Amino acid sequence: MQAPPGPRGSEVRGFIRQTLPFLHQTARRFGPISSFRLLNQRLYLIDQPDWIQDILITRQHLFVRDTGATLLRELVGDGLLTRDEPAHKERRRVLQPAFHRAQVASYADMMVAETLRHAAPWQPDVRLDIVAEMKRLTLTIVGASLFGADFSDSAARIAAVLQRVIDRSRCIVPVLALLEPLALRYRRHFPAGPSLFFRSERAELETILAPVIRQRRESRQKDMFSLLLADMNDQDATDEIVTMVLAGHETTAIALTWLWYLLGKHPAVEAHIREELLHVLGDRDATPDDLPRLPYTAMVFHEALRLYPPAPAFGRRPVEDIELGGYRIPRGASILLSPYITQRNPLWFPDPDRFLPERWRGISIPKFAFFPFGGGAKVCIGEGFARMEAMLVLVTLLRRWRLRPETDLDVGTQAALTLRPDRPLWMLPTPVTVHTAP
Ligand code: HEM
Repeated sequence: MQAPPGPRGSEVRGFIRQTLPFLHQTARRFGPISSFRLLNQRLYLIDQPDWIQDILITRQHLFVRDTGATLLRELVGDGLLTRDEPAHKERRRVLQPAFHRAQVASYADMMVAETLRHAAPWQPDVRLDIVAEMKRLTLTIVGASLFGADFSDSAARIAAVLQRVIDRSRCIVPVLALLEPLALRYRRHFPAGPSLFFRSERAELETILAPVIRQRRESRQKDMFSLLLADMNDQDATDEIVTMVLAGHETTAIALTWLWYLLGKHPAVEAHIREELLHVLGDRDATPDDLPRLPYTAMVFHEALRLYPPAPAFGRRPVEDIELGGYRIPRGASILLSPYITQRNPLWFPDPDRFLPERWRGISIPKFAFFPFGGGAKVCIGEGFARMEAMLVLVTLLRRWRLRPETDLDVGTQAALTLRPDRPLWMLPTPVTVHTAP
């Protein structure tokens, strides 16, 4: 049987040079299923919501994680983000209570308080590096929510190490398809061997966490940290803490960054949000109960996640030969699913590159035309947490500040592990009056 169509020969070099634009172009050119060879392996790109649903939900038992997980495993070890069944399910059950709706709602006051504390030193017209600002804020929030206030110092040290890894992974990701067979073989033979790509970083993380874990085991507090420690040895606890710090701050910070960028470019949209906030909140800050009453703000958040999904692509491998879209995909092949690409498909989103929050009003699209948090058993465990956090941070700051980009230049994207702006994004804050009751 023939392979799905796709770029050939020297065209494939685009994958190494500019991975995401290359994949996007490939999907637009060759349709819902395309493929290309990268040295010894064939990559399959799927841009069809029903088939994405098939992979993530209907036939999920036939798939395991792909290259991104191989890279991450070298850093975070065997955490929730890199596990497959049955070990994944077992760990998810242990961690789930920290993400139950009521538990997440209990973090809300702290999220608002941390946001206010974070912005307290902002000065009118003194520029802010918005990526750095949002990262520091989301890091404090995830650290304090999941691991307690006294964890934020360690979280900051962990984040500094992760930052180096993310920068380094920009070089590794494009060639990972080549390195991966080697990495998988190494890990199979030496499950506890030193990290292949991030040896010094992993050692540093262990050094930061060892005393924290020891101290927490002795203190018997009742937060998520203690929950983890009760059921795990030090190695597993280290893996999960690093996983949560990594998965739980960079993604939400990137989502907020793009939100600020888009609002800065579209003042009419921002004005519309302000009206909604004034109408619904009056003179107070938001609580989780207010969020369903802010439909326009929620549409803006959806539209930002559509255009700039913080996790722009992730992969799966079939554990047996499968049939998809009339093609046979062999066991072990690399299948890429990309929220970035499918969410910009004009079939589901006319004029796909335009920022149009109103498009979400009464929209009718297939379930997996929009999947910024993935789907199925491995759907983002932090989705509810991230949605509430992003909305609360946005609303709390908007009630006090207006942020404008320092220049009018359009900002491009750069995909490492997350979809970041391709250069620093400086913004200028202007205070706005907090509306008070008459
Ligand atoms: C806007 C913010 C976020 C986005 C866009 C996002 C996106 C995603 C996506 C697409 C996946 C699925 C990957 C796959 O199927 O291979 C995922 C998984 C995961 N996310 Fe998030 N995430 C966000 C925020 C968070 C937060 C705040 C946390 C934790 C506090 C978190 C923790 C995780 C974990 C642990 C997994 C692995 C879940 C599993 O396999 O069971 N994420 N995320």
